[in-house]
Amino acid sequence: MKQTKGVSTNDFDYLRQLVGEHTAVVLSAEKIYLAELHLQPIAESTGFAAIAELVAHLQTQPFNNLHVQTIEALVTNETLFFRDRHPFEALKQYILPELIEKRAIERSLNIWCAGCSNGQEPYSIAMLIREHFPLLTNWSVRLIASDFSTKVLARAQKGHYNQLEIKRGLPKNLRDKYFHRLDNSWQIKEEIRQMAEFHQLNLMQSWSSLPEIDVIFLRNVLIYYDIATKKALLTKVKQQLRTDGYLFLGSAETTINLDGSFKQVSFNKSICYQLHNV
Ligand SMILES: C[S@@+](CC[C@H](N)C(=O)[O-])C[C@H]1O[C@@H](n2cnc3c(N)ncnc32)[C@H](O)[C@@H]1O
Repeated sequence: MKQTKGVSTNDFDYLRQLVGEHTAVVLSAEKIYLAELHLQPIAESTGFAAIAELVAHLQTQPFNNLHVQTIEALVTNETLFFRDRHPFEALKQYILPELIEKRAIERSLNIWCAGCSNGQEPYSIAMLIREHFPLLTNWSVRLIASDFSTKVLARAQKGHYNQLEIKRGLPKNLRDKYFHRLDNSWQIKEEIRQMAEFHQLNLMQSWSSLPEIDVIFLRNVLIYYDIATKKALLTKVKQQLRTDGYLFLGSAETTINLDGSFKQVSFNKSICYQLHNV
């Protein structure tokens, strides 16, 4: 059997299936390096000499916390503050001003970051709101951030970032205004932290706990799914989005050829999506 630095192709096939069944994330064959990189520490901390032993153990056990840890270690959490910049510009210049006008009577807005990873995306939105929309302090604004992974949610909820993370995408003026400096890291201030609510939500399961949403950030999540899952997810998005709401996807993602109910809307360099009937 082919063995690659401790992870056989058979073991990786089992791991791929485990991740796919739980999250729908498709791990292609070349992602075997993820297993090599991330599973050794889990194997060691749980008393297994090698990844192969960890995998053999997982295969004989009913689904438990070790399976969850393994899945979380294999799913990509790459994120940064104000990722791709343009969606946040569109939100600031066009979308929030438009929605504030439209919702002036109800004075309420729901924004959802689906697949929020370590929190940089929802906190970018929170800082943008605090900086540019003081009027919203008197509104009911729900900034909902969700992920299937309790590991990333725990980090997101803390709002504590290392030097490398803080340097990625966050302008210095916002860093100095909204973070406390600790020894070698940064803690987001409570006024921003409490603007976001974090929930565990597996996108493959029910969304019934969510309200209707005005703006959905579902960025850099669809790329990990197969076509059938992307389509199924966009059908759920359609039901969750207010009829005049906006959907943001990642820069390598689109609804085109997946779901004809969405139209592309461009704001300068940013593309987002709305339902056709708007
Ligand atoms: C690459 S990160 C993107 C983070 C952020 N949206 C961004 O664009 O910077 C993808 C996130 O989606 C989450 N994710 C993947 N599959 C999921 C699922 N089935 N349910 C909920 N979250 C999922 C992962 O845990 C990860 O944190």
